[in-house]
Amino acid sequence: MPVSYREEVSKSLLILLVQEPKQPGSLFSLTPFLPVHLTGTKYSCGSGGCGACTVMVSRYDPKTKKIHHYPVTACLVPICSLYGAAVTTVEGVGSIKTRIHPVQERLAKCHGTQCGFCSPGMVMSIYTLLRNHPEPTPEQITEALGGNLCRCTGYRPIVESGKTFCESAVCQMKGSGKCCMDQEEKSFTSRQEKMCTKLYNEDEFQPFDPSQEPIFPPELIRMAEDPNKRRLTFRGKRTTWITPVNLNDLLELKTNFPEAPIIMGNTAVGPSIKFRDEFHPVFISPLGLQELYFVDSTDDGVTIGAGYSLAQLNDALHFIVSEQPKEKTKTYHALLKHLRTLAGAQIRNMATLGGHVVSRPNFSDLNPILAAGNATINLISKEGKRQIPLDGRFLEKSPEANLKSEETVLSVYIPHSTRWHFVSGLRIAQRQENAFAMVNAGMSVKFEDGTDTIKELQMFYGSVGPTVVSASKTCQQLTGRQWNDQMLSDACQLVLDEIYIPPDAEGGMVEYRRTLIISLLFKFYLKVRRGLNKMDPHKFPDIPERFVSALEDFPIETPQGIQMFQCVDPYQPPQDPVGHPVMHQSAIKHTTGEAVFVDDIPPISQELFLAVVTSTRAHAKIILIDTSEALALPGVADVITAEDVPGDNNYQGEIFYAQNEVICVGQIVCTVAADTYAHAKEAAKKVRIVYEDLEPRIITIEQALEHNSFLSAEKKIEQGNVEQAFKHVDQIIEGEVHVEGQEHFYMETQTILAIPQEEDKEMVLHLGTQFQTHVQEYVAAALNIPRNRIACHTKRAGGAFGGKVSKPALLGAVSAVAANKTGRPIRFILERGDDMLITAGRHPLLGKYKIGFMNNGVIKAADIEYYINGGCTPDESELVMEFIVLRCENAYYIPNFRCRGRPCKTNLPSNTAFRGFGFPQGIVVSEAYITAVASQCNLTPEQVKEINMYKRTSRTVHKQIFNPEPLRRCWKECLEKSSFSARKLAAEEFNKKNYWKKRGLAVVPMKFTVGMPTTFYNQAAALVHIYLDGSVLVSHGGCELGQGLHTKMIQVASRELNIPESYIHLSETNTTTVPNATFTAGSMGADINGKAVQNACQILKARLQPVIRKNPKGTWEEWISEAYEESINLSTTGYFKGYQTNMDWKKGEGDAFPYFVYGASCSEVEVDCLTGAHKLLRTDIFMDAAFSINPAVDIGQIEGAFVQGMGFYTIEELKYSPEGVLYSRGPDDYKIPTVTEIPEEFNVTLVRSQNPIAIYSSKGLGEAGMFLGSSVLFAIYDAVAAARRERGLTKTFTLSSPATPELIRMTCVDQFTDMVRVVRRAPY
Ligand SMILES: Cc1cc2nc3c(=O)[nH]c(=O)nc-3n(C[C@H](O)[C@H](O)[C@H](O)COP(=O)(O)OP(=O)(O)OC[C@H]3O[C@@H](n4cnc5c(N)ncnc54)[C@H](O)[C@@H]3O)c2cc1C
Ligand code: FES
Ligand code: FES
Repeated sequence: MPVSYREEVSKSLLILLVQEPKQPGSLFSLTPFLPVHLTGTKYSCGSGGCGACTVMVSRYDPKTKKIHHYPVTACLVPICSLYGAAVTTVEGVGSIKTRIHPVQERLAKCHGTQCGFCSPGMVMSIYTLLRNHPEPTPEQITEALGGNLCRCTGYRPIVESGKTFCESAVCQMKGSGKCCMDQEEKSFTSRQEKMCTKLYNEDEFQPFDPSQEPIFPPELIRMAEDPNKRRLTFRGKRTTWITPVNLNDLLELKTNFPEAPIIMGNTAVGPSIKFRDEFHPVFISPLGLQELYFVDSTDDGVTIGAGYSLAQLNDALHFIVSEQPKEKTKTYHALLKHLRTLAGAQIRNMATLGGHVVSRPNFSDLNPILAAGNATINLISKEGKRQIPLDGRFLEKSPEANLKSEETVLSVYIPHSTRWHFVSGLRIAQRQENAFAMVNAGMSVKFEDGTDTIKELQMFYGSVGPTVVSASKTCQQLTGRQWNDQMLSDACQLVLDEIYIPPDAEGGMVEYRRTLIISLLFKFYLKVRRGLNKMDPHKFPDIPERFVSALEDFPIETPQGIQMFQCVDPYQPPQDPVGHPVMHQSAIKHTTGEAVFVDDIPPISQELFLAVVTSTRAHAKIILIDTSEALALPGVADVITAEDVPGDNNYQGEIFYAQNEVICVGQIVCTVAADTYAHAKEAAKKVRIVYEDLEPRIITIEQALEHNSFLSAEKKIEQGNVEQAFKHVDQIIEGEVHVEGQEHFYMETQTILAIPQEEDKEMVLHLGTQFQTHVQEYVAAALNIPRNRIACHTKRAGGAFGGKVSKPALLGAVSAVAANKTGRPIRFILERGDDMLITAGRHPLLGKYKIGFMNNGVIKAADIEYYINGGCTPDESELVMEFIVLRCENAYYIPNFRCRGRPCKTNLPSNTAFRGFGFPQGIVVSEAYITAVASQCNLTPEQVKEINMYKRTSRTVHKQIFNPEPLRRCWKECLEKSSFSARKLAAEEFNKKNYWKKRGLAVVPMKFTVGMPTTFYNQAAALVHIYLDGSVLVSHGGCELGQGLHTKMIQVASRELNIPESYIHLSETNTTTVPNATFTAGSMGADINGKAVQNACQILKARLQPVIRKNPKGTWEEWISEAYEESINLSTTGYFKGYQTNMDWKKGEGDAFPYFVYGASCSEVEVDCLTGAHKLLRTDIFMDAAFSINPAVDIGQIEGAFVQGMGFYTIEELKYSPEGVLYSRGPDDYKIPTVTEIPEEFNVTLVRSQNPIAIYSSKGLGEAGMFLGSSVLFAIYDAVAAARRERGLTKTFTLSSPATPELIRMTCVDQFTDMVRVVRRAPY
């Protein structure tokens, strides 16, 4: 009998606390379900790939009488599937209003939050783990966090907070012999200052008492045990959800609704509905049906119920391998290996074995192994039971091998392996965990007993075509052959002939994937040979010792490390927080989910939601925009186009709504405003646009050069006489370096709330931006009203990294035009895919160099040309190029030096600011030519760096004086403290002993800049009020993006006013309190706003002096009260005029930057030459911090930027079609680092220096760490070079960025790459 969906669902929930993310949803996602307005569960990707929406589901199992807690991604959980379950969101864990939970407290106090957008998800993952394992191991912590992305922190502090729950805290000083935990603070006698290592105090943590957690609702236990259960039917507007009561009922339903999908984890169906517009009127969900949950172990094998989640499958297999002799468990071991890295913990807990087998994803990590292990599928229908083999025909979706539509998978039978039988699973993905395989395989071989004669061979490959494929012909032809090198050689040729990947195959990487097909086969070959040898060493020779390391994948270790910073002067007053590792001002709110982001602002009366219609052509004339069908849809209020812009639609070259023509794929053509986002989105799909393609269509830098297509004139700096110098050098090399772009991937996508006011055309905007003045300017231009009518409010942004400097202005204008036209508030939240498509990111770069040098490594002359891909509008491309040119020498003095650069105009979305502002791309070119010179001179890169590095007070190429002493110190300490020489020797030893795995080390020095070459951009203002109770409200022009700016400002105000931090509040940034604020970027947020806050506080302090003098022993409150009575103004603005900088581009000279930040980092990697995977073993960073105002914040910035840089240089890869269509539009296709990518050992030291120009002699460290990530790129280069040398390839080679597994593999040339054509990367 049908029951009311809402009623039944609400009954089933213990704590249903979900935010409304205003995303499309009906019965089909937990996230938009809204019984109450709460803000904790965040929405970031909608595809299960980021973990921001993690909640805990608890279910009672009437069979075992146990409660099972597991994490899920709420964005993929159908609300109806939660019948009978308890859902706990972050609000149910703890709250500021009641009591915060130790997980929340420790994440905050360990500095595990920056912007805080990922934090509730992190809390839920750790919390759920603790519910199951109150004293987890460090490995379990790392495993639990594998499905949660954080773009800010670099994960180290998050893992550390989790580790505080482990029984034995892990020693942080790996291999040093001493445990840092045993010591109070570390004192380094060799240094002038005492160094500290404690960023938090564990003694402050409240104890964790697992017995205090909420109990599972008895009502749900009663429901689960109810013998009179009945079929449940939930009816939505367009869909019906049916939960059968037992197996017979399921079979009945399957007969009645043969086309209805069976929904289990919804991890395959959900994304298809959401992103591929799949529609099903009926869903059948036997989730929880007892008959589908069982493990049945026999002498021959094991049968596992189809309802088992992959996490339960994992547990079951672990149990079986612990029980059975090893030779029987080879298939299970292979499955377990892949289960560890398949997706993240949330998906593994949701996805089921049955769903996995039936959905047959082409990238499946399990099906190839199941097929190789001769698994069979047990089916059931009303007709009866039958078994089908899980074989090649099934996986290749041959119609005759398919399930019948009325059939259900009951279970999967996996036979034990046998003595002369080997089974393996192999895979390689862009990152180790939570990434689809680029190629994976399941392989098995059975031998005639006691021989190496192949009796049966099976090979299945994933991700090489639309389905998993079987290399059955190859296997047949090899049957009867001996397992030897000749067989391998023939096998490689045969399999390459059999598995064809067409040149235009989806996913590209054709040569790489073909290479992997045979490289993985080779790994299997070696494994089997090793196995045979272990069984009979006399009969079967072992593989060469140097090949043994090729057999194992990189282990996943729990990261550890040590952070060092200067201790606070013991004479500093205890109340003064400056220099202390103070927790982020909002950290606790981040972890409880109470920190308010724009989408958390409660619904506003009459508000409309905006959905975008973007161009599908790179360059085309708009012939027609037909909105009639969209306008006729329910809930649609209006469609907004260029015609509706009352002011400038094309302002400073930036176009708000496309008019007449489109100039890139992803340009906003129009927007649809509707009463719900679902309606807006549905209608947006119905807008019909007719285009006529225009020529030229310019996508790449090379094409732009051909067409002479640039956004601005060339920028150049020069010293010495380059041409002359080239005549007097021993050698000259020329080369090119390609550095690809990067997506910001801030966890909070661009979100804007535009509220038109009743009077005077006023408009209020709430948005996460780095540059409110810019938003105000663009909105004023678009609406043709003065700026004083526009108020922008930014409480916080969920990450920005440069992506929220200029783009919010454009999107703000788009929303304001819609608000203006409709007269109603507009909520505009970009979905992840739209955000990635529209807002673009870091500029791809092409660097060309010509270097003249002596045989001893001294570089005499350099001529460098840079081109960046600016995209279709100016944005900040010209400025980015100026910065690249100004900073391109990095740490090296080259007497004759010329650097030129131009931003290219192309038909890509307009690229924009990104942390480091050109430096991370540009300086890779310098490091690349230094490495090339070293190779030509038979020197190490470190020697050439040392030789050419600035040594004394000098002038930069643009003639600015600087003292490189801190640079030298960072460099020297980095080499010494990382034991670089000894480890380099050890790596060489390792390389001699290992043919297929190579280690590499690299150290990069850095001379980075802070601030802008234009004085007025460096100005800042603040407004400080003291209220009569003594409390203080600080406002300033900087925006809180997660970088801890407000925290530092409170520290400044506290010191200046000599009051505790608790007296000071900082609410938000807005244009009404501090007008005309400059952007929060360029690493100068704390510098300039700190000076403004300091100035305001000093003015107030001076005003209070007479009162204090009169009553020196009085309290702050008494002085304030007295001051008020004496009519002393307790409010003031503070102002910082800005650093004096200048740049004369005609002369190529100027004091362009207020000061420099120096640093060095050393990284060591291990590379798998057969797959191209790499593992980052260790990183040591030495960063010149001068005096750190807040070491926790600064170290957090350095680590976060380093990991972001490491991602940029290694795994983050944007993919465009030749037509300019961005393919990578979400976490499935674009991989940012996860917890498994960070260095196994990660040490950071803040090096003390002087910087009197900046507040408290500090330095801005927001961006500098980014470039240090290139030490990983060059360490990879070092390892790859070792591999190439061993293979006789001694010629200098260029490794472009990112060094993806594809690039690494194809550069480690060997017999397998020789068998396929060499890949060429298409540069953009
Ligand atoms: C973010 C993310 C990351 C992922 N990463 C990986 C990865 O790294 N490696 C990998 O291999 N996979 C990965 N996957 C895919 C995942 O393994 C599959 O989506 C999952 O196993 C499908 O199981 P499900 O229970 O969610 O299926 P559902 O989505 O519930 O169902 C899928 C299909 O199976 C059918 N079905 C389900 N159960 C039965 C049954 N008992 N009888 C008959 N038909 C049935 C349904 O009708 C439906 O057509 C990932 C998925 C996501 C969302
Ligand atoms: S929003 Fe759910 S996983 Fe990203
Ligand atoms: S703190 Fe993790 S995404 Fe910002």
